[in-house]
Amino acid sequence: MSLSLLLLPLLLALPPPPSAAAQGQTTNISSFSSSDGQWRPGQGQILLSPNATFAAGFQPPFPNASSSSSQYTFSVWYNGISPPTVVWSANPDSPVDASAYLVVTSGGRLFLNSSGVDRWGPNATVATGNSSANLSLSDDGNLVFGAWESFGVPRDTFLPNQNMSGRTLVSKNGRFSFDSANLVFNDTENYWTSPNGEFLNLDDSGKINQNGQPTLSADFGEHVSVPRRLTLGDDGNLRMCSYSQSQWTMVWQAMPELCTIHGLCGRNSICMSDGAEGTYCVCPPGFRSSAAGNYECERKVPVRSPKFLRLDFVNFTGGLNQTKLQARNYSDCEARCRVNSTCLGFMFNYDGTGFCVLQLGQLLYGYWSPGTTTANAMFLKVDQSETDTSNFTGLTSVLETTCPVNVTLPQPPDESNATTRNIVIICTLFAAELISGMAFFWAFLKKYIKYRNMAQTLGLELLPAGGPKRFTLAEIKAATKEFSDPIGRGGFGDVYKGELNDKRVVAVKCLKNVTGGDAEFWAEVTIIARMHHLNLVRLWGFCAEKGQRILVYEYVPNGSLDKFLFRSSRPTEQGETDEAAPMVDEKPMLDWGVRYRIALGVARAIAYLHEECLEWVLHCDIKPENILLGDDFCPKISDFGLAKLRKKEDMVSMSRIRGTRGYMAPEWAKTDQITPKADVYSFGMVLLEVVSGVRNFEMQGSLLDSEDWYFPGWAFDKAFKEMKVEDILDRQIKHAYDDRVHFKLVDRMVKTAMWCLQDRPELRPSMGKVAKMLEGTVEIMEPRKPTIFYLGDD
Ligand SMILES: *[C@@H]1O[C@H](CO)[C@@H](O)[C@H](O)[C@H]1NC(C)=O
Ligand SMILES: *[C@@H]1O[C@H](CO)[C@@H](O)[C@H](O)[C@H]1NC(C)=O
Ligand SMILES: *[C@@H]1O[C@H](CO)[C@@H](O)[C@H](O)[C@H]1NC(C)=O
Ligand SMILES: *[C@@H]1O[C@H](CO)[C@@H](O)[C@H](O)[C@H]1NC(C)=O
Ligand SMILES: *[C@@H]1O[C@H](CO)[C@@H](O)[C@H](O)[C@H]1NC(C)=O
Ligand SMILES: *[C@@H]1O[C@H](CO)[C@@H](O)[C@H](O)[C@H]1NC(C)=O
Ligand SMILES: *[C@@H]1O[C@H](CO)[C@@H](O)[C@H](O)[C@H]1NC(C)=O
Ligand SMILES: *[C@@H]1O[C@H](CO)[C@@H](O)[C@H](O)[C@H]1NC(C)=O
Ligand SMILES: *[C@@H]1O[C@H](CO)[C@@H](O)[C@H](O)[C@H]1NC(C)=O
Ligand SMILES: *[C@@H]1O[C@H](CO)[C@@H](O)[C@H](O)[C@H]1NC(C)=O
Ligand SMILES: *[C@@H]1O[C@H](CO)[C@@H](O)[C@H](O)[C@H]1NC(C)=O
Ligand SMILES: *[C@@H]1O[C@H](CO)[C@@H](O)[C@H](O)[C@H]1NC(C)=O
Repeated sequence: MSLSLLLLPLLLALPPPPSAAAQGQTTNISSFSSSDGQWRPGQGQILLSPNATFAAGFQPPFPNASSSSSQYTFSVWYNGISPPTVVWSANPDSPVDASAYLVVTSGGRLFLNSSGVDRWGPNATVATGNSSANLSLSDDGNLVFGAWESFGVPRDTFLPNQNMSGRTLVSKNGRFSFDSANLVFNDTENYWTSPNGEFLNLDDSGKINQNGQPTLSADFGEHVSVPRRLTLGDDGNLRMCSYSQSQWTMVWQAMPELCTIHGLCGRNSICMSDGAEGTYCVCPPGFRSSAAGNYECERKVPVRSPKFLRLDFVNFTGGLNQTKLQARNYSDCEARCRVNSTCLGFMFNYDGTGFCVLQLGQLLYGYWSPGTTTANAMFLKVDQSETDTSNFTGLTSVLETTCPVNVTLPQPPDESNATTRNIVIICTLFAAELISGMAFFWAFLKKYIKYRNMAQTLGLELLPAGGPKRFTLAEIKAATKEFSDPIGRGGFGDVYKGELNDKRVVAVKCLKNVTGGDAEFWAEVTIIARMHHLNLVRLWGFCAEKGQRILVYEYVPNGSLDKFLFRSSRPTEQGETDEAAPMVDEKPMLDWGVRYRIALGVARAIAYLHEECLEWVLHCDIKPENILLGDDFCPKISDFGLAKLRKKEDMVSMSRIRGTRGYMAPEWAKTDQITPKADVYSFGMVLLEVVSGVRNFEMQGSLLDSEDWYFPGWAFDKAFKEMKVEDILDRQIKHAYDDRVHFKLVDRMVKTAMWCLQDRPELRPSMGKVAKMLEGTVEIMEPRKPTIFYLGDD
């Protein structure tokens, strides 16, 4: 198990060693009763549990170990470890001075006497009425006096074997609490609810027993008897820590994203994470730090006539009414906020779902979270006169790597003058374009719903709601004019262009050699149609009539990636690239930015297929021919899910016949189980081709003649041994490669490809990880050289 990888060392503020220890003369007692008289802070007496795991006694109150403070609390701490760690205190909020003392009165009452006042909280009096009652400490860390026990009144820490049900932790600063199921700020503001029900107890192996599934720590079962604790920190996070190798290590936490904790920042303020363990608060544009402090911000100019500033990846979760509206588009959402004076802004998602939340009355619990994959932004209402601009940006680059965005590509360049071509994609108008994109999406969705209704009236309710439309063969024939316009010939069958009655242009794929009956086909098609992703070709319907198996897809105008990537082997034609009269047949060059965007889009779509779909879908045939390019060179994967309609033997022989063995993972050649990692391999090969512009098995030059020449291995040596990454770049746009601008992009693509192309499936990253590697949101370790062991005997 690689659980230990998850262990995150964490240096938590540690309480002081016992003051008594410093004085060198310790009296150890195992119980304390009325006959023991007065127990004073300075006398160096501690109460030990039978096996000395825990100790109790007077401690200086707060973290300053070296403080010469004369203030004390009566506490319980982990004794065997260094530094000792306080887990409970009798009087955390009202420390006593050296003149105070603890006694058990003759009436059987525990009395922490500070000038006549009992400081033994939380309820001032612990009385048994039994004069022989004594105070003792169990090996679990439970301080017991008669029927009273410290386990019943926890402070900020739960210990193993302590019953948590119905008990509440409160952070030292008193701002946060945990009632064994919810984390709450300021008594009412719940920011986390245990997904598996109430916490019952923590056991020695690192398992939290709950009403539902237990929660396991990262070191579950590894060290059964190490000290552990579950502590609610002053930052509002609940963490389990275990003690090993002389330090406390965090092994579980409720809130991995600290800024989603409520109350770290004040009104109108936005919480930012510094990437490590800390957070800080900033004011949004149009606001300044409030004189009131508390990390609050106040508006600089009152809003008379509103405008909106976009704050990318900002989310305020504390409005008066966080109702999610279904807005038709951005303008709809904005209009609703504009007219309502209590609306201070709104959140909108650029994902086509119409996600729109008006921020009414107050701006609370804001945070900035750029790691999210959804393109969400907060639109803050400010006055027209406001000159501040938003510096919460970053959405543009995400949108550049998603769709739709408008890019214009250069025609194949003239080598001589294009050496310093600036190829950064600029999408200044992206917001406006996006809105029109969304409008289109909604128009489509409305039609879609209409089809669904139609299907229902036609008695096709068998299909789940939102299922694909079933076409008749006659409809298909009419749409394709009797299959008169072939546009492709894929492994799964021939493809024809057509136009439906409602003017939608479609690609009609007539499947060959599909096994299984009607019902099975329906089931599979329904699954395929349920997959919606910007980077997947949309399945609109199907036809299963007279033995025909036909799929109706959206038509993707620019054709497949291979046409752009692999040009005819003749050298680039000079002189034919007159800008004024571009060759009709000449495909434009894909520049580095677009190539990166294609790689990322494809990676995200495959990750979606692997990880987010209800059923695990392996594509099993990823290659440039199956990556189509939309209007704006937005990549769309086709043929996904079709592998399910075929047998593995078919897939292998089919691929061999078509000579696409270069994309198949080594395990295909063996009898190994085919896992999602096979797709990762194929993707790696495509990625390398996207960078190099050559087919992995059609590399020009003499190298190919060698029996053991292996494209990934060759590329690896070039990039990481000879350190000449330029040598593997596509010759046709090599001149446009600007080290300063493109190095990171290309480096990420090459490194990621190398990881994807590892021969052992388990060494390849998951597709989700691959997408993150390309995005640059995770660090990419130095790859190992990909090797091959099946080539040659194939
Ligand atoms: C008292 O307990 C402490 C901690 O367990 C230990 O180090 C010390 O030796 C003990 N002292 C005596 C007198 O037993
Ligand atoms: C105790 O520590 C806190 C922060 O940890 C610090 O602000 C304070 O000044 C310290 N007090 C003393 C007496 O050292
Ligand atoms: C507590 O201390 C005061 C003097 O500070 C003393 O008068 C009183 O009797 C003490 N109470 C007990 C229960 O020891
Ligand atoms: C003292 O605590 C017990 C249980 O912890 C509770 O039932 C009781 O009401 C408390 N008494 C006071 C005075 O708070
Ligand atoms: C009084 O306390 C002693 C020691 O804790 C215990 O043995 C005894 O049973 C108690 N007596 C009553 C009446 O509770
Ligand atoms: C002390 O006792 C506790 C509870 O029985 C046990 O978990 C722990 O391992 C013991 N510690 C030592 C040092 O024996
Ligand atoms: C805590 O809640 C009270 C009343 O519910 C409110 O007046 C106060 O402003 C809140 N404090 C913070 C920091 O939100
Ligand atoms: C904002 O945060 C809330 C609560 O964490 C969450 O439910 C919501 O989806 C987030 N909004 C966006 C746009 O991400
Ligand atoms: C919250 O907003 C929704 C939609 O506008 C509305 O139906 C609901 O009544 C509102 N609730 C409150 C408390 O304003
Ligand atoms: C703004 O919207 C809220 C919630 O929908 C509503 O209660 C309030 O009356 C609206 N205010 C105005 C001025 O329209
Ligand atoms: C925006 O500017 C403020 C003030 O200069 C700064 O504190 C904050 O970190 C900036 N925000 C971002 C997202 O860079
Ligand atoms: C892309 O830009 C072209 C010209 O700049 C424009 O005609 C077209 O409508 C744009 N496409 C979209 C989806 O906005």
